[in-house]
Order: sequence, then structure tokens, then C-alpha cells
Amino acid sequence: MQTILYTNNIIGDVRAIIERERPDRVVLLTDETTHRLCLPLVSEALANVPEIVIPATDVNKTLDTLQQVWRGLQDAGCTRHSLFINLGGGMVTDLGGFAAATFKRGIRFVNIPTTLLSMVDAAVGGKTGINFGGLKNEIGAFCDATTVIINTEFLRTLDAENIRSGYAEMLKHSLLGNDEMWRRHVTFNLAEPDLVLLQQMVRESIELKQRVVTEDPHERGIRKALNLGHTVGHAFESFLMHKGTPVLHGYAVAWGLAVELFMSSAQLAFPTDKMRQTVRFVTDHFGRPNVTCDDYEALYALMQHDKKNTAGHINFTLLGAPGDIRLDQHVDKELIFDALDFLREA
Ligand code: GLY
Repeated sequence: MQTILYTNNIIGDVRAIIERERPDRVVLLTDETTHRLCLPLVSEALANVPEIVIPATDVNKTLDTLQQVWRGLQDAGCTRHSLFINLGGGMVTDLGGFAAATFKRGIRFVNIPTTLLSMVDAAVGGKTGINFGGLKNEIGAFCDATTVIINTEFLRTLDAENIRSGYAEMLKHSLLGNDEMWRRHVTFNLAEPDLVLLQQMVRESIELKQRVVTEDPHERGIRKALNLGHTVGHAFESFLMHKGTPVLHGYAVAWGLAVELFMSSAQLAFPTDKMRQTVRFVTDHFGRPNVTCDDYEALYALMQHDKKNTAGHINFTLLGAPGDIRLDQHVDKELIFDALDFLREA
């Protein structure tokens, strides 16, 4: 099982990990943004460590960038006994993790996530990969980082939009957790986040995700719970990207959660007051997606292409209540459209 280290002493901890792992070489991966904003917090522990800097953002999570990283590992003389350190958001930890999983059939790697989204989601749970053939995360492997280092100091340089984007995954985890966890998350002041409180909530969120992925690392059963909000969320994300009005992943997930909670209320008696309170939280902090009812057929077609579907059915993860998880639920098209109406008019 991967070790998650929550730290306020990142320099000391990175040094201790290198000391403990005894690699023959250490190589660092950053992107142009984390090289500038995040590396200064940790560079003291990485003197003389060669760095591979890749272009930032998900559009660069490609085979070309992966080749750049493989070449960088080769140029640094890495062997099977080397250690790779990924410093960045989900794009860096996904692509860097996949580079490490495949280089010489696999070398050890450490993830240091620097965005809220990557702390609570991408860096934990062993999903690595790249986008390919126009599809997100099409090529990849399950491979755990040996250690994930969580230091919320990085959030000080993160903009409000990216804080909100990561928080959507935390809201999802709270819905998978229990009533009390959900209540704290929908009453959190996301407009002016208290970073000390957020740090505790990040830990709680990661611990929930870790429990799920430990039980089902390869997503054959309960890990599908982590898809809550994502069947509809991915449809919003792809649709808005093709329309030329892209949104951050977490915004699409927040809207997906709202739509899927409406469906949960209608189909599984998820308490209506809690559904309304969650939808209000979502529209207050994330607004509403830029879609009209003329777009519903296109959104539905995108849901039908979700790679988690089976035998022509759209498989939703829905809830009977916070913590009452129902996997592989099928929903009539009419109810999906009613739920989209509800979010737009809420
Ligand atoms: N992001 C969902 C998962 O790790 O399964």
C-alpha cells in the first residue's frame, strides 16, 4: 500500500525518503508552472538532482511529452534502481507516474501533488496515464507511487478557481462518506477558505479515497463509487471543450454531482432537502454550465460513450443517502433530461 505523508517539513521529508530508498539516481519532473511556483519550496532537498521540465496543462498529457520524459530519464542515466519525483498537478503525476511505470519495466516514484485536485484525487490510488486518440486517459497503467507527500503550503499560490475545482472532488468524497462529513462540506466557506481547516479536510478526503482504492485497486467494484458525478461531469467537460468554452474538471464534476443527486432523489429517495442544499452549494460556488436544452442530446450521446458503460447501458453511481452507495444504476433518458433542467433552473 502506498504511504501518504502529511507534512509541514517537506524539505526534511524529501531528504529522508531519498535516504531511505537509497536510489542510484534521483530525477525530478516539473511542468513550467510548478518549476516556477512550487520548486522553490522543495529545491533545498534536491540540490544537483536533474530536472525534466514539461509544458503545463492537460493538452500536453501526450505521447510526445511522455517521450520527452523517457528520454530525460535515459539521459540522466537512470536504471531500475533510480527514483523519480513528480512535482505538480494531475497532469504531472499521471504522466510522470506512467513514465516511471514503464521505464525499464518500472522504477519507483514519489508524487508531490501541488494542486488541491491532485492532492485529493490524481496523486493517490495508482491511476497513471496519458491522453490518446482524442480520448482522456486512454493509455495507462495502475501503478502506485511509493510515497505521496501532502503539503498544503502549495495551495497558497493556487488561484481560487483551482481551489474550487479540487473542492468538487472533496464534496464528492463527503457524499460517499456519511451525513456528518457531507454537512461539514456543504457549510464550508469556500469563498474565503480557511487553509488550516481545509488541510484537515484534505486529509479526511484522502483517507476516504484510500480506503476505497485499497479495497478495490483495479475498479472492479466499490472503486466505481469514485465515479459519482463523473458520468454527467465528463459529458459537460467534453461538450464544453468542443464548444470552445472549456471549464476546469472540478466545475464539470460539481455540476455532474448536482445532476446525479437529482436522479438519486427521484430514483432512490436520496433526501430531497439534502439534494437541494448540495445543488444550492454547487450553483453558489460553481455557477451553472453554459448549456441549453438543445444540447441535451449531445450530452446524452457523450454519456453513452463513457468508458465505464457495459452492454449499451450508461452505468451511474448514485446514492440512497450520503454514504449509501449504489453502483451500476440505469436511469431513463427522460429523468436524465429532467435532472439537467433542474440544474439549469435551480
Ligand atoms: N479518480 C477516480 C479514481 O481514482 O478512481
